Amino acid sequence: MANRGNFSGRIGFILAAAGSAVGLGNIWRFPYLAGENGGAIFLLVYLCCIFLLCYPVMVGEIAIGRSAASDAFGSYSKLGGRKWGYLGLFGIIAGVLILSFYNVVAGWAFGYFLHISFGDLLSEQNFGTFFGTYVNDIIDLSSLGGLANSNLLFSLVFMVLTAVIVSQGIQKGIEASNKIMMPSLYIILVGIIVYSLTLPNAFSGVKFYLIPEFSELKIQTVVDGLKQAFFSLSLGMGALITYGSYLSKKENITSSAAVISIADTSVAFFAGLMVFPLVHFLAYKLNINPQEIGTSGPPLIFVVLPQIFHEMGPILGRIIGGSFFLLVCFAALTSTISLLEVPVAYLVDQKKMKRTTVVWLIALIIFVCGLPSMMSMGMIEWLNKLSFYRGQDFLTFIADMSDICLTVGGCLMCIFIGRRWGMANMDAELTHGNDRYMASGVRSYLHLTIKWIAPILLGFLSIVIIVEKFFGIENLF
Ligand code: PFF
Repeated sequence: MANRGNFSGRIGFILAAAGSAVGLGNIWRFPYLAGENGGAIFLLVYLCCIFLLCYPVMVGEIAIGRSAASDAFGSYSKLGGRKWGYLGLFGIIAGVLILSFYNVVAGWAFGYFLHISFGDLLSEQNFGTFFGTYVNDIIDLSSLGGLANSNLLFSLVFMVLTAVIVSQGIQKGIEASNKIMMPSLYIILVGIIVYSLTLPNAFSGVKFYLIPEFSELKIQTVVDGLKQAFFSLSLGMGALITYGSYLSKKENITSSAAVISIADTSVAFFAGLMVFPLVHFLAYKLNINPQEIGTSGPPLIFVVLPQIFHEMGPILGRIIGGSFFLLVCFAALTSTISLLEVPVAYLVDQKKMKRTTVVWLIALIIFVCGLPSMMSMGMIEWLNKLSFYRGQDFLTFIADMSDICLTVGGCLMCIFIGRRWGMANMDAELTHGNDRYMASGVRSYLHLTIKWIAPILLGFLSIVIIVEKFFGIENLF
């Protein structure tokens, strides 16, 4: 057991878990979902989901890991019997799926960082066309925007960086890298927000983002909010079981989970506070209505934001735009590390394989699994329009499947705690590092949520997402 590795203390654990949580989900997906779902009202729903539902699930997940001191499969098997181990395995497979497409998007962001900082992307005339060419042509080493373009290479570099860090182990790799990247990420984020708030028309964006319009509230808003909250906190697939397994018994799980949730939510919140003033600034510059700027969907940060950086002029645009994509890379890297650690911990713990060998092996497998996602942006026709998935592309398919895996995994995890492992065992685990836990109100709240509310709601959500995605009932409600 001694050679499994462990976090040096509370701060190391919190930074690593917050690093896992803060990722493309916060900076790439949260702002566009907020834009699609009415801005402030989505933010409100999202905050309710985080604190009413996701926080208890996070506490439960960390408690499982720390109690069993094993990987996702080992933890479920140890606490609930071998059959439950398959739930851990399901999580591990979900992690592999997520990392396969996540690394592709991270590679795009890394390429954009290089293109904006060192190439001449900002002098482009049409950012939509650039993005289309960029994601489509994965091995074009000829010059695009003044720089050799190959998002195959960029994704490979990203995966190699992830593998190098994970191969260094818990303290020297995961903890040390998060201790550098997380604070840097916050500094860049705050810097860009301060700057964006000084731009003309910025406060109209702030208003859209912060003043809720209750008439915009739909069930779809709640479904999107819950799905996003779950993905954003890295719940439901064993990442926090794995990280929790490296946490000392001295630490207080309930308060650490609160800090992690707040850290993650604040980055999502700040990402919105950065993006909406920028979008409204662009609307002002182009003399159009902000609604006319397509803020929906993945292209938000790859098409709309570069256009905004272009408007800032060649030098400032390069500095702000380069910093923005560096921020995205840091956020993505702290998450890819945690995604890779899940299968790695499984093979190290269960099969007694050497960490370094496992890391490179899994990284290679996942990279290869990501190729279809990468080639589904136009390069290969049938991957671009999957006939069994309503003509959507393969990357979207995998991303949607991941959402389903996380909510199903989360639902089953709550059932596991409530009906198999037992609330009493969870309480016993949470008492370590928190003597006052048994008499606290948090305990009743965790019990109510984990035993009843979360499994019912997550079960319902999983069914809604499956029906919605496979049968194309876009507006189910
Ligand atoms: N939480 C990450 C994000 O918001 O980008 C994504 C993620 C990382 C999901 C790790 C699941 C996970 F285990």
